[in-house]
Amino acid sequence: MSFQPHNWFITGAARGIGAHTVQAALAAGHNVVATARKRDSITLADDRLLALDLDVTDAAQAQAAVQAAVARFGRIDVLVNNAGYGQLGLFEESTAADAEQQFATNVFGLFHVTRAVLPVMRQQRAGRVFNLSSIAGMRGIPGGSLYCASKFAVEGFSEGLAQELAPFGIRVTIVEPGAFRTDFLDGQSMRFGSQAIADYAAQSAQISAGFGARNHLQPGDPARLAAVLLQLAAHPAPPLRFAAGSDAVGIVGAKIEALRGELEAWQALSVTTDGAF
Ligand SMILES: NC(=O)c1ccc[n+]([C@@H]2O[C@H](COP(=O)([O-])OP(=O)(O)OC[C@H]3O[C@@H](n4cnc5c(N)ncnc54)[C@H](OP(=O)(O)O)[C@@H]3O)[C@@H](O)[C@H]2O)c1
Repeated sequence: MSFQPHNWFITGAARGIGAHTVQAALAAGHNVVATARKRDSITLADDRLLALDLDVTDAAQAQAAVQAAVARFGRIDVLVNNAGYGQLGLFEESTAADAEQQFATNVFGLFHVTRAVLPVMRQQRAGRVFNLSSIAGMRGIPGGSLYCASKFAVEGFSEGLAQELAPFGIRVTIVEPGAFRTDFLDGQSMRFGSQAIADYAAQSAQISAGFGARNHLQPGDPARLAAVLLQLAAHPAPPLRFAAGSDAVGIVGAKIEALRGELEAWQALSVTTDGAF
């Protein structure tokens, strides 16, 4: 059965992947609720666009934004949980507040918006949810311990949620982009641990320089990712996971092989814990 993804609700829509998805959905003739921490930062003007204030860490604002969306367009067919940032740098050089803020946005913020939207989709008995994870939700890297932890949380949440929602005709897709050319690695988006520890000085400098060298040179095109999201939204059977970009395909493939290799190497010992009750 075909699905008409006509009414979109997108978080973090002022810049990057979110902004490109807004443009692509409007260009395809859809209605779009574009939300941002400051709605004035959404400068597009279109009869089919509703720009709303939404800091995803604010649960009440998420509820209000969804009410406004339904009041304007009547339905929400596609939710794109895109808002997020990278708390990068080494774990010990990050503070407890850094970790809490990372989860408040990337995990609990995503929960707030999803919790607000799902009653609408359940009533419709139809919907598509795209949760922006990352290749960082598939494999951990040094300098990404907190960011990876937040995206691994998104993966586990989404995998469970997808099964809870399937009976209602709501499909959840975890989107795992590789490196995309947005502001993600820019000082206005990413945050880097600021609690310097001498033992980590060399490692930290190397990681920071690596991110800096890749800033705005990433191979992935966010406009093309937006076009793919439109295609997936209209697909009758969208995937649970979607790796975006050749780098992502390679990394996910390598992770699967590494998991299988380690599982098999230790399998004989693993099974010795089965009870003999
Ligand atoms: N680019 C990549 O390489 C890449 C790779 C894998 C995954 N991702 C994921 O893709 C998503 C989009 O990232 P991007 O690459 O488009 O980065 P971006 O250019 O930095 O854009 C991120 C957007 O998220 C918004 N945001 C951050 N915190 C927010 C909050 N509390 N409430 C509402 N909006 C918030 C920002 O809002 P402001 O404009 O107000 O700052 C900004 O518009 C993120 O979830 C990111 O983790 C990106």
